[in-house]
Amino acid sequence: MTQRLTIVKPDDWHLHLRDNEILNCVLPFSVERFGRAIIMPNLSPPVITYQDAKRYRERINAALTKKNNFTPLMTVYLTDYTDPKNVKIGIREKILTAVKLYPANATTNSAQGVTDWRNVRGVLSVLEAEQTPLLIHGEVTNPNIDIFDRELVFIEQILTPIISEFPGLKIVLEHITTEDAAAFVSEASDKIAATITPHHLVINRNAIFDGGIRPHMYCLPIAKRERHRLALRAAATSGNSSFFLGTDSAPHTIKSKQSECGCAGIFNAPNSLEIYAQVFDEENALDKFERFASINGPNFYGLKPNEETLTLFKALWQPIGHVQIKGIGEAILPFRPKGDIGWRLE
Ligand code: NCD
Ligand code: ZN
Repeated sequence: MTQRLTIVKPDDWHLHLRDNEILNCVLPFSVERFGRAIIMPNLSPPVITYQDAKRYRERINAALTKKNNFTPLMTVYLTDYTDPKNVKIGIREKILTAVKLYPANATTNSAQGVTDWRNVRGVLSVLEAEQTPLLIHGEVTNPNIDIFDRELVFIEQILTPIISEFPGLKIVLEHITTEDAAAFVSEASDKIAATITPHHLVINRNAIFDGGIRPHMYCLPIAKRERHRLALRAAATSGNSSFFLGTDSAPHTIKSKQSECGCAGIFNAPNSLEIYAQVFDEENALDKFERFASINGPNFYGLKPNEETLTLFKALWQPIGHVQIKGIGEAILPFRPKGDIGWRLE
């Protein structure tokens, strides 16, 4: 039985770092585990132009210490009015690694997102020509569609037409939550990939209502039925190069989670990699862990894997409880699956 695992240092292909005090508080957890991360642009106000992304990157770099070997890979948030020329310059100047499409109002801080994908055709053409990935929050926002069906309906009504109009466009369907999404990506061309979060590999929708309402288990896309969780575990551990790691670690203060209208988002940065390792172990697929965590992502993005390595070892531990945010007197509660975690960072 494998007790220690040394792999190429992983990257996180979907991360929310926020800004200011929260950035300072959460960044060290990701730096410890990942060499690079795709930084989500849904700040308030959002990161809309490459100039915004450049300034945000400077703030993240200023929050790193000299010995941190961590590269933030920047994105911008598409609106109905995004200028394709601005995106092209951002890519050519090596400021933008990807571009994010939030359907307007699909999730936290997405009010200025895209109301109709046809409004951003000009940007999609640029991305296709530059081979820069489009990252998609894949949920429709029609309130008449049941929240548990919004990913599948998105694939049918929005993703499929985008792919048929832009067959050469690289797309990451982010934080997939259904067996339908996993099957779609498995069968699609190698231009289409997906990230899978640690929490969607370990909880199903019952966790949100376990003995009462559990706001810290609530995120978007929302966790689905057990059969979907099992399909995600199969996809992640399959060795298929279209699936890779993206934590979607999304910190919110305890106050903003535990309120009349609590925010969507699960903060898993303090134990994300360890949970993934445990899942691969439970599925007898530790031999495929490095591909999912460290190789498939860079390959899709056309980047080299990290040169550093990282070691995990088998040991039971309890993740930290509250994380205090210095300077604002508030705290964040990290994701806590039931039971202990079986793998640890060396
Ligand atoms: C994210 C956040 O809080 O920014 N929330 C979430 O539930 N995942 C936004 C997102 O990725 O949907
Ligand atoms: Zn996210």
